[in-house]
Order: sequence, then C-alpha cells, then structure tokens
Amino acid sequence: MIMFNKRLNLFQIWNSKAKRYDEFLTKEGDVYQQEVNWPALKGLIGDVSGKTVLDAGCGNGLYTQLLHTMGAQVSGIDIASSLTEIAQTRYPEIFFDIGDLTNDLPYQTNTFDLVFSKMVLMDIPSIENTVAEFYRVLKPQGVCVISILHPFYPLYYMFKNKWTSEPTGKFENVKQYHDETFTTAFYKHIKLEIPVWTRSLEHYINTFTKRGFGVKEINEPKMSSDFLEKYPEYQERSEIPIILNIKYIKHV
Ligand SMILES: C[S@@+](CC[C@H](N)C(=O)[O-])C[C@H]1O[C@@H](n2cnc3c(N)ncnc32)[C@H](O)[C@@H]1O
Repeated sequence: MIMFNKRLNLFQIWNSKAKRYDEFLTKEGDVYQQEVNWPALKGLIGDVSGKTVLDAGCGNGLYTQLLHTMGAQVSGIDIASSLTEIAQTRYPEIFFDIGDLTNDLPYQTNTFDLVFSKMVLMDIPSIENTVAEFYRVLKPQGVCVISILHPFYPLYYMFKNKWTSEPTGKFENVKQYHDETFTTAFYKHIKLEIPVWTRSLEHYINTFTKRGFGVKEINEPKMSSDFLEKYPEYQERSEIPIILNIKYIKHV
C-alpha cells in the first residue's frame, strides 16, 4: 500500500502506472466514465468550438482529444511524462505538457476560456495553489469544470467498515467526513493502486469561491436502466453518488 509521507513522489507513482492505466482505458475502457460521466460533463462544458481549453491532469489524452474533436483549441498537461508521451504520439495535432498541478502552471495569465480537470483533484495532496492557478490562467468570465470522486462516496464504505464484521477493503482509514484524509483507491481488476485525498464538499466549494470563482452548476451523474442492464456489476453502486461534477465561473 502507498504510505503517505511528505516526500510522496506523485511523478513516480503515476509514471509507474502509466502503461497499465493506458491499457485499461484504451483496451478495456472505463465504461462508467465513458457512458455515464462523459455525457454529463459535456452538458456542463457546452459548446467549446473555437475556445481555448486546458485539460489539467489529461492522462493519456483521451478526453483532451474528445475536446479537440468538439472544435476546441486544447492543450493537455499531466505530471506523468509516460502518459503525455503516449498522448503526444497518439494525438500529434494536440500539444501536451508535463507539469505538476500543485506547482505554478507554465501558461500566461488570462489564456484559457475553459479549464477542464477530470478525475484529478482528489489525487493531489493540496488543491489551494491549483485552484489559484486555474483562476489565474482563465480569462475573465472563463469557466472551470472539475470532475471528482463524490465527497459523499467514501461515506458508504466508511459506515460499512464500521458496522459490518467484514471490512470492505476500501477507505478503511477514513474515519471522519470532515477531515482531509489520505487514502488509496485500489482497482482490483487492473491491479492499480492510486493515492486519494478525501475532502468535504465545503472544501471543494469554498476553496474555489474564496479564490473568486462562482458556482454555476453541478451534476451528479446517474446510471440509466439501460446502462445497469448492460453492466449489472454497477447495480450496488447505482444507489450512491460516485462522481461530482462542478462548473465554476471566474468572476473578476
Ligand atoms: C484518474 S487519472 C485521470 C486522467 C484523465 N483526466 C481522465 O479522466 O482520463 C488522474 C491523472 O492525474 C494525473 N496527476 C496526478 N497528480 C497530478 C499532479 N500533481 N499534477 C498533474 N497531474 C497529476 C495523473 O498522472 C493521471 O493522469
């Protein structure tokens, strides 16, 4: 298990998982992300044709490319050079940077119409500087759309671990909703363990509003009956929110 210490090397962790993660996304496909979350996110993003977009934590560039096909002028950035290399080879028409979102971003102030960050913020140790940088690189009235593990999702496992004799093996060290807790998510079927920081809803809202963002809209994607018929393994989790998507606007 990944143990938290101050020298936790996110670059090394993600780089070491890049090949397996890419294989999973491209060969097996993350059906929940593709069939449930992406349509919900597209609703928040709206028309990006001709807009400048940053895909922050772009991974293997799968969604960067989808934004590109929607007509956006998109750039991707990720800490894992092995993932940006894959992305750059696969999508040569898009420019991918290597960078750590906890540091300052290598872009000028007021550059982007949209900062898109999907399934990334709960994987980084602190979001304060990241949010400040998203604000800085956005144009006035620019939009930031984030997709995160729903802050309520770990509660399901937290109570199950507390009240049942058989621990779930998930979020076992999460004892308090309000605390920021370092834990890991283990994807059994792909043998991939990744760092996760659980944070409250208030943390995700207030960090942005304190920086000058307004909340425009949120969504909590639901699985349709067609989806559940196709993938019955998701039935149990269809009763709880897995993902939270938030659209913020940069007020000036
Ligand atoms: C769960 S993946 C999501 C990838 C992509 N956005 C998607 O939805 O397919 C999380 C991504 O965040 C990246 N990441 C983690 N910590 C980061 C950091 N501090 N700075 C930049 N990227 C980071 C990882 O390398 C990985 O590609």
